[in-house]
Amino acid sequence: MTTTESPVLDELTRRLARISGLDARALEQEHHEVLGRKAGLLTGALRSLADQDMAKRKTLGAELNRLKAKFEAAFAARREALEAAARRQERTTHDLTMPARTRWVGAEHPVTKVVADIVHIFHGMGFTRAVGPEAETEWYNFGALNFPPDHPAMDMHDTLYLDVGPRDEATEGRVLLRTHTSPVQIRTLQAYPPPIRVVIPGMVYRKDTFDPSHAPAFSQVEGLAVDEGITFVDLKADLIHFAREFFSPDTQVRFRPSFFPFTEPSAEMDVGCLLCGGTGCPACKQSGWMEILGCGMVHPRVLENCGVDPEVYTGYAFGMGPHRIAMLRYGIPDIRLLYEGDMRFLRQLGEDGP
Ligand code: PHE
Repeated sequence: MTTTESPVLDELTRRLARISGLDARALEQEHHEVLGRKAGLLTGALRSLADQDMAKRKTLGAELNRLKAKFEAAFAARREALEAAARRQERTTHDLTMPARTRWVGAEHPVTKVVADIVHIFHGMGFTRAVGPEAETEWYNFGALNFPPDHPAMDMHDTLYLDVGPRDEATEGRVLLRTHTSPVQIRTLQAYPPPIRVVIPGMVYRKDTFDPSHAPAFSQVEGLAVDEGITFVDLKADLIHFAREFFSPDTQVRFRPSFFPFTEPSAEMDVGCLLCGGTGCPACKQSGWMEILGCGMVHPRVLENCGVDPEVYTGYAFGMGPHRIAMLRYGIPDIRLLYEGDMRFLRQLGEDGP
């Protein structure tokens, strides 16, 4: 290495030679120490030329400017080299041969789909959707629906009561988790004047433990139509239309007499077994029929309880359980499968399922 009579030039020359070996941080530090505007070595040397005599100023000045250009080029080259190396590094940490992930496609839960289908079919028949609270009072869940005060359904064994502290129990009774969606019939009749046509999806609660056919919380869809001149013929026609839309156009339907305190007369509707087509199988207990809903003409006392004149208006109501209907529709043997969220089960009924 050549030396000059100027120690600054010697120092700068040495530093210039080292630049190509610096890492990114050292490079910026070096730039600061050499070309920094305030304390840079080269910047300082150029500034102090003013103190030199004319001849020295010329030769040293020329030399310093030459070095400055070299430094700038060296810094730029080193920066570029470091950036290129970083880009290369990034490419090698991404494995471009790795197979792409399969896309996750979500699907509706079978019960959600059944509820949506039911509501959609009734929407086409002029019904709107209504909802009501899950925490109800004894009056809405039982009393207004014409249950006698000692009805067994109110028993502590069936109904889940909520401990909500002191309140005026004289008027509406204790607070409970609704055991059916029928209390929303009452709330709807109180809120709107007839004509009324509503479907009411929601969760209901009963003091049951899980087994293949029972769950302590399950869904219902309630229906209510109240207008002048509604008869049992309307009930049958609308529910048969629903069953054929929901299952298939050739679905067999039958009504059996039944009892509910809030409808009179009352019935249960069966459809021809979806699995055996009516010849008899374990799913329909060899009967060829599957029960899918309860229904009836709204009891005059229920209308009266809501301030609707039963001499002017009549109506029908029905209630069905989408969890149960999902089991029938898809041949699900155990209701617990609808609660567990097991992906292997849900995938079978998802996008590619039935
Ligand atoms: N609420 C009844 C139940 O839970 C079903 C029902 C609704 C029956 C409306 C008739 C009319 O069993």
